[in-house]
Amino acid sequence: MVSRVIPVDPFDLVIFGGTGDLARRKILPGLFRRFINGQMEDTSRIIGAARSDYDDAAYRKFVGEALKEFVDGGDREKKQVAEFLKQIHYIQIDATGTGGWDDLSELLRDDVIRAFYFSVAPSLFGALAERLHAHSCAGPKCRIVVEKPFGRDLATAKELNQTLRDHFDESQIYRIDHYLGKETVQNLMAVRFANVLFEPLWNAQFIDHVQITVTETVGVDGRGDYYDKSGAMRDMVQNHLMQLLCLTAMEPPARFAPDAVRDEKLKVIRALDPIEPDDIVRGQYVSDKKGDDFLDQVEDKDSITESFIAMKLAVSNWRWAGVPFYLRTGKKMKARHSEIAIIFKEAPHAIFGQAAGRHQNILVIRLQPNEGMDMLVTIKEPGQGGMRLLDVPLDMSFAEALGEDGNAPDAYERLIMDVIRGDQTLFMRGDEVEAAWAWTDPLIEGWMSREEKPKTYEVGSTGPEEAAMLLHREGRRWRDIKP
Ligand code: BG6
Repeated sequence: MVSRVIPVDPFDLVIFGGTGDLARRKILPGLFRRFINGQMEDTSRIIGAARSDYDDAAYRKFVGEALKEFVDGGDREKKQVAEFLKQIHYIQIDATGTGGWDDLSELLRDDVIRAFYFSVAPSLFGALAERLHAHSCAGPKCRIVVEKPFGRDLATAKELNQTLRDHFDESQIYRIDHYLGKETVQNLMAVRFANVLFEPLWNAQFIDHVQITVTETVGVDGRGDYYDKSGAMRDMVQNHLMQLLCLTAMEPPARFAPDAVRDEKLKVIRALDPIEPDDIVRGQYVSDKKGDDFLDQVEDKDSITESFIAMKLAVSNWRWAGVPFYLRTGKKMKARHSEIAIIFKEAPHAIFGQAAGRHQNILVIRLQPNEGMDMLVTIKEPGQGGMRLLDVPLDMSFAEALGEDGNAPDAYERLIMDVIRGDQTLFMRGDEVEAAWAWTDPLIEGWMSREEKPKTYEVGSTGPEEAAMLLHREGRRWRDIKP
């Protein structure tokens, strides 16, 4: 299948924090892949901006090394790398001082799109925004891109939003949640709203419950400092899992347009009921291996921060009345496995009798690994006497079904191109972020005030036993976590 690449208009993209980890791992390799894909005009420029004493040549060397490390050999033809590096520039800049700003202003062109990627600590957002204006770098058409964390609670999120809005209009602010850039996440919208098959069944009448799972095998090693102040709730649930929940539960927007989609997502967050403590299980990983416990990897040896969380949520509206949404995410688990599973109700009347067993259709949207969809359909077990039933998957692996196109762009690539195109559909609006914190805050305050210790779970397991109980007590079970 031939992919249709639509080049974006020429741009100047300034990456503040251009020598940082995110730039090295994600932003620059992503831009390179879009370049070799023909999506970046050769008049577009990427301008790294940071404190390091580099010039264009030194930064190009830095970028070249990043590509060597983070882009597959096959995609890294020497000639293409050399062409890409010609479009790379560098400005040494002092985010909180005056150094470099006039140079930046001089370098930027008036007749192309300007985008500024704030790949720096949120405490610098205000200083950057002010200086961009003071030095006439920011016009009404420019865009800024910001990364999570968007605050650590409602109050800090509001403050951060205000800082950005003091200088930029909401239509210029692109808040990245990289889960929204994942191909399968967008596919969830296509599945729901471009097929007649699913939407009529997408409600409390036919759906028994929904499970959203995002598990990882990595731990917090090397990020202990950040993570201990954050925990799974702030790091994953308030943003990534919340976005998955919104796309699963939202009403069909009138059109696939930024505010139409974001209005619907916001309604879902606002419809969430507060959660009872009994409906949340928090965990911390432990290991037989020395130095491998969560507590070994953070400074505070009495930390009650969770590296795992499972919870039962209710979206309190007409469509979802009585349908539980179970969410779980954790580090150092059995496998890296992310999916949204829609578990349908059993057929209303069992004509095949008890021997046929209980059967439920399940639609699985697989985010990673092996992106794709799976639909469990109940059929007759072949060859058996009588009517014995069996659930078989109608499995669609995107890589297999779509050939090369199955290798969809990485989330960052897709999102950065959306910034240039000026499409905010897959970015979080300020009010969404605030609504998510308004729902999250009381839960965190609750367990902090009760000084509630997380349960323990073994590295490589499926989480604390209590998490399994969350479903068992209601006659349900979590789906397997498979590598
Ligand atoms: C980040 C979190 O936002 O998402 C990390 O801060 C987490 O803790 C990562 O590991 C997971 O992203 P992905 O794309 O690997 O599932």
